[in-house]
Amino acid sequence: MNILGIETSCDETAVAVVTDDRKILSNLVLSQLKEHEEFGGVVPEIAARSHMAHLDRLVKSAMEEAGLDFGELDGVAATCGPGLIGGVMVGMMTGKAIAAAHDLPFIAVNHLEAHALTPRLTDTLDFPYLLLLVSGGHSQILVVEDVGQYYLLGTTLDDAAGECFDKSAKLMGLPYPGGPYMEKFASECMDTKAACERFDLPRPMKGRKGCDFSFSGLKTAVRVYVDKLPEGALQREDIVALAYSFQQSVTDVMTDRCENAIHYFLTHQGKNATSPTLVVSGGVAANATIRAGLKNLAERHRMNFIAPPVPLCSDNGAMIAWTGIERLRRDMTDSLDIAARPRWPLDPEAQTRRTA
Ligand code: KG4
Ligand code: ZN
Repeated sequence: MNILGIETSCDETAVAVVTDDRKILSNLVLSQLKEHEEFGGVVPEIAARSHMAHLDRLVKSAMEEAGLDFGELDGVAATCGPGLIGGVMVGMMTGKAIAAAHDLPFIAVNHLEAHALTPRLTDTLDFPYLLLLVSGGHSQILVVEDVGQYYLLGTTLDDAAGECFDKSAKLMGLPYPGGPYMEKFASECMDTKAACERFDLPRPMKGRKGCDFSFSGLKTAVRVYVDKLPEGALQREDIVALAYSFQQSVTDVMTDRCENAIHYFLTHQGKNATSPTLVVSGGVAANATIRAGLKNLAERHRMNFIAPPVPLCSDNGAMIAWTGIERLRRDMTDSLDIAARPRWPLDPEAQTRRTA
């Protein structure tokens, strides 16, 4: 089975072809970074226009690289939400047009589900598993019970983890998206103890019951420290120390929140699982320190740990195509009248958080 996957929900135009025996035949990602750079974040109208300008060519290249004609596809999957609605519409309409023209099933993919199922593309992983999903727009802990079945254990009450990385990096004068820059500078830190003493950042929600996150206080604490430094551009050694302490704080919070989730998982859904597994996915899952902290936590609780290869953590078409395969196998296809959804929770039953 060959599926074409299209992703346009944020600032990456991405197209891939994936097979049901987990081969990625092509996986092309066109980043719009340069187009948004001067604005310090993603501008929705620019993103939508850029997806429109590049998507057709990218689909053609992905099909050529896969060595397939449209007639050899078994379905077309496109992100239909959540995300920036203009961009989502571009990818969704292109996907529907290809499906209609070649009489193929169409699969409307929830972008968050695609991050959640990516580890099943790259590793052997059975349901249920415990997932930390951390990206630019979301920070959630979920039990992945099956395709389309999620139980939300925790979410952020304010900013997402990636958003906190990006906003803190911006305060420090680093380019967008700040996550990878923060990791790079943090890795240069030699005196880690001194860095954490000098920039003593909070661990919001650590030690509290439940699995919710809060990141806005951490960002504010970074701002307070930046304001205390001499005016003008920060010195490299200040950036290095602050980035290190920041990354440490985020890792601590994530492992603390996940530890509560592990206790829940192991006494409920996970108790019958032959190999209980903790999974991390989404753009922030590319961070090596966070991965190492979570791996260590999983091992302490005798759980397996899986994180997708770094290029499949951030937005890509392969995760959309793979979700298309998971759904098509279960006859979960969609009509061509399905609408794009700017919001699309994985667990619609979850109690709405007061401030989320
Ligand atoms: O999943 P993703 O590509 O897009 C969304 O669905 O949001 O995630 C993007 C986020 C950005 O906030 C980016 O700064 C963050 O992932 N990110 C990282 C790293 N690489 C990307 N955060 C921390 N460390 C990294 N190495
Ligand atoms: Zn994403």
